[in-house]
Amino acid sequence: MIRQSWRAFSVAVAFSAALLPVLASEGVSGVTGEQYVFERPRVTNRPAPGGEYIWEQITPTKNLVWYDCYTARQCARLLVPLDYSNEGGLQAAIALVRIPSTYPTSSPEYRGPVLFNPGGPGGSGVDAVNLNGDQFVKILGPQFDIVGFDPRGIARSTPKGEAFLAQAERKIFEADADRLGPEGGDADVANAWARSQIIGKLASERTSDFLKHINTENTARDMLRIVEAHGRSKLLYWGFSYGSILGATYASILPDKVERLIIDGVADAENYFATLWSNNLLDTDKTMQAFYDGCYSAGPEGCPFYAPGPGLIAQKLSALYDSVHKNPFTVVTDKSYGTLDLDRLKATVFRVLYKPYTQFHPLAQALADLRNGNATAIYQMSETPTFGCSCGTEPLLSTSVDEGYMFVACTDGKPVPSDLEYSLKHHSEMSRSSEWGGQWSTTAIRCSGWPQFTKTHFQGPFVANTSFPILLIGNTADPVTPLWAAQKMSKGFKNSMVLTQDTPGHCSISMPSLCTTQYIRDYFVDGSVPTIGTICAATGSPWPRIEAEMMVEENLSEKDQELLQATRELSRTFEVPRVLHGL
Ligand SMILES: *[C@@H]1O[C@H](CO)[C@@H](O)[C@H](O)[C@H]1NC(C)=O
Ligand SMILES: *[C@@H]1O[C@H](CO)[C@@H](O)[C@H](O)[C@H]1NC(C)=O
Ligand SMILES: *[C@@H]1O[C@H](CO)[C@@H](O)[C@H](O)[C@H]1NC(C)=O
Repeated sequence: MIRQSWRAFSVAVAFSAALLPVLASEGVSGVTGEQYVFERPRVTNRPAPGGEYIWEQITPTKNLVWYDCYTARQCARLLVPLDYSNEGGLQAAIALVRIPSTYPTSSPEYRGPVLFNPGGPGGSGVDAVNLNGDQFVKILGPQFDIVGFDPRGIARSTPKGEAFLAQAERKIFEADADRLGPEGGDADVANAWARSQIIGKLASERTSDFLKHINTENTARDMLRIVEAHGRSKLLYWGFSYGSILGATYASILPDKVERLIIDGVADAENYFATLWSNNLLDTDKTMQAFYDGCYSAGPEGCPFYAPGPGLIAQKLSALYDSVHKNPFTVVTDKSYGTLDLDRLKATVFRVLYKPYTQFHPLAQALADLRNGNATAIYQMSETPTFGCSCGTEPLLSTSVDEGYMFVACTDGKPVPSDLEYSLKHHSEMSRSSEWGGQWSTTAIRCSGWPQFTKTHFQGPFVANTSFPILLIGNTADPVTPLWAAQKMSKGFKNSMVLTQDTPGHCSISMPSLCTTQYIRDYFVDGSVPTIGTICAATGSPWPRIEAEMMVEENLSEKDQELLQATRELSRTFEVPRVLHGL
């Protein structure tokens, strides 16, 4: 049944003039023999915004063939084995985007591709490099290709891991969702559990042909293929959040193929592969505290939610929680409408903890507004536009991190027991462990209905003597990847080093630090590694008044000015995908 709805991707696509390969000299050997790539029939006569239509016009090949795309980017689709134990069998096509090095590949200056993973799992590396590639070039230099890829199963890579066949179907399902917020009781847990059973069944029926191959080990092997397709033999990589699991997996299974490897916002890989997600929140309260402390330091003019003491600011917020719990607000904006209840309020605060640099001050303003009876700004901080039906299957877009998350994390990890009792117990344990534990517990509950099969892919141990020391980066107050996990992971990798950034926020790029950026650049460019115990401070503040003062004190060379500018821009705009719907 399902198979009939797939078509072999061997149909030659006529290229329009705009789609001629940009680098014919790199060779188009194309595909020999029968190569099949799963692909759903797509509506292609409706160009998506931002030139997304291009993906469907690119025939995937075993060699990289690049086409101009987006704005000053090149795109390609690389064929890789769906199953590495059966190289000649079915193929997957990995979507890639890059900003090429300004040096020809033959030049001794050329240093090869740096690969990025923005996190999730389920996040799109194409989106990340599309959006932030220019800053990566400024930080690392023009001797590298800056390369983003959508991991297998995700976004524009095919076959795509989707439980839903159309965006409308997905949206109708999501509309029915209750956020498992702080008020979540047993009935809400049961609802979240039941929905996970449904998604698991749909995924099983609709993707059983390839589902088990969407795992992190295979994505790590795909990364080596991408490197080799660039004519290089070792990986240069910078991965964020879940990208730390991917990077550590790569380093463990291909230790001799490491040229540079940074994992930034490090998760506990053992906990991840146990599908527990139970030790992410060890430092979340510290991130919250950084908000109170910063608001207090910024003073009444600098912080709209100011009170004369961090503890008093915390009390003020807690009183606001109580008030919204009793009297939720309704909000109508020009983009959407909805309720600002306690669940949504707390989900918004949690979300802000990821990105202090751009979000702390707006949060303080929105909370002050809310206290004055205006819920618009706080609602808008987590607003998504009301869905308008575009009726049809979607082109290869980056759509739902949520589904991507499940395809990777639930496939990767140990099965979560499928009985409701387990989910109830997990929720109550997580709720006891942290103020944010109840909502975070859905990360594991979502896997409770996932198809079960024998898992033979790599799930640890995370130990290796890598061909170059890996660099781990952790913030002192990261809301979802505590510093402890970076220190733990580092123990497994010979000569690896933890660089500590003394800031709140998720991953180093959530706060600008010139010091961190310089270490990252030097690591990639010269291979220098920071010494044990190195701690970097922020170069900037979430609070405009304090930041203005800091900038006056800085006396930077022109080169460092440029580096700092790129770093601040990255902190403003880089998005680490969040794994929870509505969070
Ligand atoms: C409420 O806040 C919004 C967004 O900040 C603002 O545009 C609006 O004018 C405010 N409404 C009132 C009645 O003050
Ligand atoms: C790393 O090398 C040391 C010897 O230098 C060896 O004892 C150890 O087993 C190696 N570890 C791994 C994971 O290969
Ligand atoms: C900034 O640096 C320049 C050159 O290094 C130096 O001459 C100048 O005095 C410095 N200014 C301040 C305010 O430190």
